[in-house]
Amino acid sequence: MVSARAMNLVYALLLIHFLVLPSEVLIVEAKTIVKTVSAKAFITAKSSKFGIGIEGVAPDQNGNVYAVGFGGDGTSGIGTVAGPTGAVEQKLLMKDQTASLSFNGLRFLPLSPALAENFELRGLAAEVKTHQVLLMLKSKRDGRTRGSVFCRNDSMIQPNDIAVAPKLGVIYMSGGAYGNVKTVVGHGDLWMCKAKDSFYKTSRDDLGPIPATRLGLFGLTNGIDVSPDEKFLYLTESFHEFGEPKSNVIWKFDINQKTGEVDVTKKTLLVDFEKLDGSGYIDLDGIRCDKEGNLFVTKNGRQGEVVKISPKGELLLRIKLRGVFETTNLDFGGPDGKSLYISGKCVANPDLGCVDVWTDNPVPGRAWTEFQNN
Ligand SMILES: *[C@@H]1O[C@H](CO)[C@@H](O)[C@H](O)[C@H]1NC(C)=O
Repeated sequence: MVSARAMNLVYALLLIHFLVLPSEVLIVEAKTIVKTVSAKAFITAKSSKFGIGIEGVAPDQNGNVYAVGFGGDGTSGIGTVAGPTGAVEQKLLMKDQTASLSFNGLRFLPLSPALAENFELRGLAAEVKTHQVLLMLKSKRDGRTRGSVFCRNDSMIQPNDIAVAPKLGVIYMSGGAYGNVKTVVGHGDLWMCKAKDSFYKTSRDDLGPIPATRLGLFGLTNGIDVSPDEKFLYLTESFHEFGEPKSNVIWKFDINQKTGEVDVTKKTLLVDFEKLDGSGYIDLDGIRCDKEGNLFVTKNGRQGEVVKISPKGELLLRIKLRGVFETTNLDFGGPDGKSLYISGKCVANPDLGCVDVWTDNPVPGRAWTEFQNN
């Protein structure tokens, strides 16, 4: 005979079993099953006018999307990858005629009312050889794009990529001395340049050169972006050993709303890729936020991949790439700002630069959105 007390215990255990089991299954799923989607080939090896150094994807206020590495070898040319309709358009914007400059990160700034009289486009390009950020202004009068020093300092390691806080009138730059067998702190850095006014209000006497300030030294820094509310700066850091990456993380810093500075001693770890999915050995490259502050991060490995990370550091999505590998950079453009253009070497011809596109993000990119509000 089974006593009533024993039966109650059995019911209780069954109940616990049913209560616990489904939630355990859910937890396992949340940890391991992340949705994976595929990008589409956009600029292919057959049609590409970009070289192996394709980098710095960025939208402008007219809806075009650009990259550096236009016109074959080297990275001294800048051209479009897509026009305002979102279709392929490969046109030269600017090329250093001596081919001695090497551009990397690229960003576009809004035109303030004072500048809109004379210019139709304002951009910034990180230039590695002369350790400066170059200002590009395209004249309405003759259609030419001319470069001048926006900010520079010979102590800059590169700069590699640029992030913009347009309301604060500040830019931030990453940089790394790649090619060291073993990375130590000091092989990478973080810089800022602050204009007198917000980039929406730039006056004619605030076009540079403006002072460059070093905010801190790091391992190799590369991907860099600012949250849509301009409260946080995100920065990737990597350490190499035996010439190969062994760690890759994304740091988050609070931006001082008066000075634009970040205190590098007060950093928060957003993602450690070794802990996240064991991919600390794959270097991170460009990062860009969408309008809601999600981060899109390019991973520079043989199998091209982009991951979407929430502002809390959770892995939301993996985007597998079709035509590119050794992925370099990315940003949103297209008519609704929801098309993510991703650059890298062409799978079909590693001597050329290609672009993939992924069109299914629910919200547009941050930079694209800021141009609409302007
Ligand atoms: C360049 O930056 C370094 C490091 O912060 C600083 O010591 C130096 O004064 C700067 N040079 C110029 C010309 O501003």
